Amino acid sequence: MADSTPYLIAMTGGSGSGKSTVADALLEHYADHGIVVFHEDGYYWPMSHYGPADTDEQREAIIAKVNYDDPISKETSLMASQLADLKAGRTIEQPIYDYDQHDRKITETRTIAPANIIVIEGIHALSVPELKPLIDLSIYVDTPDDLRLARRIRRDVVERGRSVESVLAQYLGTVRAAHYRHTYPAMFEADLVIADEGLPAYGQVRAPKEAVERMLAPITARLQAEGVL
Ligand SMILES: Nc1ncnc2c1ncn2[C@@H]1O[C@H](COP(=O)(O)OP(=O)(O)OP(=O)(O)O)[C@@H](O)[C@H]1O
Ligand SMILES: [Mg+2]
Repeated sequence: MADSTPYLIAMTGGSGSGKSTVADALLEHYADHGIVVFHEDGYYWPMSHYGPADTDEQREAIIAKVNYDDPISKETSLMASQLADLKAGRTIEQPIYDYDQHDRKITETRTIAPANIIVIEGIHALSVPELKPLIDLSIYVDTPDDLRLARRIRRDVVERGRSVESVLAQYLGTVRAAHYRHTYPAMFEADLVIADEGLPAYGQVRAPKEAVERMLAPITARLQAEGVL
């Protein structure tokens, strides 16, 4: 258990901006300090939240109706209470979301023990009012939209077997508007805005090591200045 109040870093940015890449790098670099990553995705409401979901038709109707890019699709009160528990030194059982089933797993949870540094990352990490009082450092990962879209198309088509047409329909139909409404405004109030200025890296499919180090550097400087590292 952590011997002092854990330090909470909340990191947001649009889909494909590099949040998970930076969070993984933080986890690797600061493992010795005691660090844990808290993913926002687990908190999507279970199907039961939207009414009966016993038949395929009912489930499909729910999936078609929900905007998964709006924070309303997540159980933010549970997210806040579990983060508060972690900050108070209590171990939590985090829900796990099953993307294939579009539902929360019923029996399985992820046990998270408190650590000195907690990183919450996701597209709504800075847009949930209940979380704000808990956050010690807020970070916005600012990556140009064309790169984010290119990365998202690549991920969904190459890694998830989707068609370009369906990825673009989703992007233009919900993702883009929700980004400007719920994620982008956080850039103007974040403590730290990080951007990868290493232009050659922009053509890469995966973040090269140097690109990740460039994004990590301002965070490290801030954590050192605040005496966290
Ligand atoms: N600085 C960078 N230079 C080049 N590629 C990068 C950089 N940062 C991240 N990437 C790559 O961009 C892709 C998307 O990054 P990542 O999955 O971290 O984004 P994300 O913000 O977590 O997206 P999502 O919200 O969809 O989970 C990955 O393939 C990653 O390797
Ligand atoms: Mg991610």
